[in-house]
Amino acid sequence: MVNLMNNAITENVPSAWYSTLENFIVKGKNAEIWDSDGNRFLDFVGGYAVLNTGHLHPVIIEKVKNQLEDFSHSCFAFAPHENAVKVCQELNLRYPISQETRSFLVNSGAEAVENAVKIARYYTGRQEIISFKGGFHGRTYLAMGLTGKDKPYKEGFGPFPSFIHHTEYPYEYRNISDNVAIEQLNKLLSKNLNPQDVAAVVIEIQLGEGGYIPASPNFIQYLREICDKHGILLIFDEVQTGFGRTGKMFGAEHVDVEPDMVTLAKGIGGGFPLAAVVGQKAIMDSIHDAGIGSTFGASPVSCAAALGVFEAFDNENILSNTLMQEKVMKSNLNIAMEKHNFIGDVRGYGPMIGVEIVENKKSKNPDKLKTNDIINKCKDNGLLLVSCGKEGNVIRFMGPLTTPLNHVEEAMEIFNKSLN
Ligand SMILES: Cc1ncc(COP(=O)(O)O)c(C=O)c1O
Repeated sequence: MVNLMNNAITENVPSAWYSTLENFIVKGKNAEIWDSDGNRFLDFVGGYAVLNTGHLHPVIIEKVKNQLEDFSHSCFAFAPHENAVKVCQELNLRYPISQETRSFLVNSGAEAVENAVKIARYYTGRQEIISFKGGFHGRTYLAMGLTGKDKPYKEGFGPFPSFIHHTEYPYEYRNISDNVAIEQLNKLLSKNLNPQDVAAVVIEIQLGEGGYIPASPNFIQYLREICDKHGILLIFDEVQTGFGRTGKMFGAEHVDVEPDMVTLAKGIGGGFPLAAVVGQKAIMDSIHDAGIGSTFGASPVSCAAALGVFEAFDNENILSNTLMQEKVMKSNLNIAMEKHNFIGDVRGYGPMIGVEIVENKKSKNPDKLKTNDIINKCKDNGLLLVSCGKEGNVIRFMGPLTTPLNHVEEAMEIFNKSLN
């Protein structure tokens, strides 16, 4: 074995692909990880909101091991395997679209988003797509184009597809009310675009990278009406909000609106790469044979893991645990907001909570430096967190939904101590 030195990272990978932790991670267990120096951290980054069921969930690991006894890969388009169909069946049963649905499995969130847009354009025969300022949909070209946050995702990588149009996402704290966002959308549809040319509107129920900003049920219901009026497909990007992250199995349940299609990834595979597009049967079945596909999509190992994820949600009260987590975190964070002039806002559906850091409550000027200071202090004290938001001034909590309450309380203690 080569003994990797700390500078092995900078000597072997591009500098843009930097890591936050100085040491290699060597072990993980539910919400805890340990590094090569034996430091223990509470992991509230969770592999970027992937580890909803924690590190090495025993049910998931058992399913993966069993799968590896049989075979590790088969391209579904050539040799189908049962687990992939079971995952699709579970998604069709569980995702809140009342019409009959079909599900299609791929590898990553960006790939799911690309496919959803591809299917929407084919089905509608239209070209234009609407997405939102602050939205994040991935790093491939179309997904980057849909993304409404330039730095660091798009800067210098253009041009992007010209058929994408960004409109305001409601952001109460910054005075973008639902009405303002609705006005902007209506303006876009009446002045810049013919609604009959629009294939789809793509939206996150709560912005992830864009700052953990939840959209209200009213706003999403308005989108549904506009889409219905003009024959536009409504696509929810639930890559980050899916699989319990918002305290309900899917973000759509908070807004009581059914999309025509949804993209899922992150938590679906319990730490193994898997993503999905779920959509109404008529839409999904409209594509010609072999018009969609993927070599590695529906990996048997990832599908086995996903079945373990469903089983864990069914048997372990994970969603009720998220309610307790939300209660502990929001009460602590709201008290911290009262105490500290630099905490401007605490918000989010369920335990998907963002804390907006500002210079002071009056000016509301985003304070990225202080945000990074707090995150670094937390890391020194054993709690891992990352920022988000257009200005990089929102601290987000995305630990495992299986985190035991004593670890949530410990995380809050560390956070409070680091604020002081
Ligand atoms: C809402 C949303 N969509 C899409 C993506 C892209 O997913 P991936 O990194 O798996 O391609 C992300 C990733 O953070 C996301 O949060």
